[in-house]
Amino acid sequence: MAQHSGSYTPGTGIERWLDERLPIIRFSKEHLMDFPTPRNINYWWTFGAILAFMLVVQIITGIILVMHYTPNVDLAFASIEHIRRDVNYGRVIQGAHAVGASMFFAAVYIHIFRGLYYGSYKAPREVIWMLGVILFILMMATAFMGYVLPWGQMSLWGATVITGIFSALPIIGEPIQTLLLGGFSVANPTLNRFFSLHYLIPFIIAAVVVLHIWALHVPGNNNPTGVEVKDSRDTLAFHPYFTMKDLYAIVVFMIPFAWFVFFAPDILGHPDNYIPGNPQVTPAHIVPEWYLLPFYTMLRAIDFNVLFIDSKLGGVIVMFGSLLILFALPWLDSSKVRSGTFRPLFKPFFWLFAVNFVALAYLGAQPAEGIYVMLAKICTFYYFAYFLIILPILGRIETPAPLPTSISESVLGESKSKA
Ligand code: HEM
Repeated sequence: MAQHSGSYTPGTGIERWLDERLPIIRFSKEHLMDFPTPRNINYWWTFGAILAFMLVVQIITGIILVMHYTPNVDLAFASIEHIRRDVNYGRVIQGAHAVGASMFFAAVYIHIFRGLYYGSYKAPREVIWMLGVILFILMMATAFMGYVLPWGQMSLWGATVITGIFSALPIIGEPIQTLLLGGFSVANPTLNRFFSLHYLIPFIIAAVVVLHIWALHVPGNNNPTGVEVKDSRDTLAFHPYFTMKDLYAIVVFMIPFAWFVFFAPDILGHPDNYIPGNPQVTPAHIVPEWYLLPFYTMLRAIDFNVLFIDSKLGGVIVMFGSLLILFALPWLDSSKVRSGTFRPLFKPFFWLFAVNFVALAYLGAQPAEGIYVMLAKICTFYYFAYFLIILPILGRIETPAPLPTSISESVLGESKSKA
């Protein structure tokens, strides 16, 4: 029989029996519950748990919706109405899934901006960050395909615009577009493909989340000081301290979530999507969901040709580039200091980046005309300049504020931490 050493001692005969065959309780005790977590992490660190919770909510509500949804262009719209009107609790389940997508993205944006501010992407956490970027891209793909499923006007026309951008890629573009569409226009085969992938990708996301947390458990959490853990005075066991804190944050997060579901379940969606999809009527403005708007703005910002790259291809390069650049971030930021708290020059540029990102979202919902066109170009420029110019230079010219020598010093003050 395998001999185990460590902090776990099976309490009952059944636990001992299981431990000798599948040491799953030992694993969760030693690697999850007892995991040494920096004692100073603040509420921004609860968003990882909130995201995991939201993924479960989306999967469970999604599985129930599929029991009543029909992936056919003639029936899809009506089947959503059927869910909302006839199925027991259907209005709440459908509302939770639709609002849940928005809440999921709100949480992921907070999670990403937390990482950007506290330098959580820096060594040794590059792989956690890159797996995060993969999660973000998978989330966007899932949300985009999910939005097509009700087969409203915005589903149909959003899918037409977004699949159309692939045709800008030379040589491989059109085959990719045809493969995505299952034909030459958005129609029943497209709906079936998107339905299949919309069901599949969340499980891939769940698998990548496991890798994300595995990678996190190698170096451990970053924290608001950005100073690494030195000894056991800097940490607390994950359970019960952080399980309770995460649980509390999840409950608080559920308050606005529930408010939307029960009082305004449709407010976040576009009114045109409550009109059945019609290939013969183009909506006045085709806009994606709010959480995709910043990237949509960057796609549209390039309305000029550069040498042999036409504006359409240029837009596609910029849009995909805005995501791919995130993979390179750990190597672009040259600062030795991790946390923004101790970086006086970094702070204004970071906050400008945050405001710029909101502005990009705002511009995506405006028609591409007049002043909006110029503003979209400026904001797109700043988005890239932040990663390619500002962060590489700042680290070299900035004099950071003095760092605490340890996490316990920053929590307790210098004298007590040495006692
Ligand atoms: C389904 C989506 C995601 C889930 C479920 C998830 C889950 C988690 C969890 C549970 C943690 C530990 C707790 C915390 O630090 O909040 C974490 C940490 C982290 N995540 Fe995510 N995450 C997701 C997406 C992302 C994305 C999109 C990024 C970045 C692009 C990202 C970057 C990070 C980083 C850098 C850390 C380490 C934070 C630190 O210790 O400072 N994650 N994530």
